[in-house]
Amino acid sequence: MQPVELGSPLLQLDQPVLADATLMYEFCQDPVFERFLTVPWPYNSRDAETFISLVIPSGWKSNDEYTWALRAPQTGEFLGIIGLRLPSGSVGFWLGAPHRGHGYVPEALRLVADWAFENGIVSAIHWECLVGNAASARVAQKAGFTFAGEAPSIAPYRDGSHPQSWQGWLHAPDDRSIQPGWPTEALSR
Ligand SMILES: CC(C)(COP(=O)(O)OP(=O)(O)OC[C@H]1O[C@@H](n2cnc3c(N)ncnc32)[C@H](O)[C@@H]1OP(=O)(O)O)[C@@H](O)C(=O)NCCC(=O)NCCS
Repeated sequence: MQPVELGSPLLQLDQPVLADATLMYEFCQDPVFERFLTVPWPYNSRDAETFISLVIPSGWKSNDEYTWALRAPQTGEFLGIIGLRLPSGSVGFWLGAPHRGHGYVPEALRLVADWAFENGIVSAIHWECLVGNAASARVAQKAGFTFAGEAPSIAPYRDGSHPQSWQGWLHAPDDRSIQPGWPTEALSR
């Protein structure tokens, strides 16, 4: 598939370009990424360039993974990444530390889910994060996912292990309201 662009007044989703590599490299120095993500670690500038110029285009071409850059609509500033893996329908996302807490990733997840469901790409989206990643769980909770409990991760961790992870699902007919039963309920506003 050719990459598609998605957008709303809050957010623009399009393809990362090599001009984003420096910011991507800087954002990926975040120690939170070592703990919670499976990006290479240590993360070097070549990792960002390879991701942008080879990994992402190849994922669209093979229909294995659709990945977008999150951008500020007015300025085009690069904020982070969201990806939808196929055929599992698993989502992954990260935001540069300076941009967290503005609801950008819940919005990105809504845009990707709407597009994927409306175009029959998947009928359900799977989310997982390492146990304790409360910010990630809040994103899925706010996007209307149903919490499915704790289990070994489906995606292998950086060392090939499958650590205990929080899991959740969003199905196409779901009404996107906040569902009960999340371990982060104490954090809910
Ligand atoms: C998880 C993440 C993508 C959330 O994106 P976001 O656009 O900031 O999401 P939100 O604005 O909805 O905030 C979600 C939660 O993050 C936490 N948060 C808020 N501001 C924050 C900040 N400045 N820094 C860190 N976390 C913050 C809050 O718990 C918030 O929940 P709340 O709505 O109850 O306040 C982002 O924190 C991130 O990139 N984390 C590191 C990478 C990661 O863990 N990715 C997910 C792997 S499964």
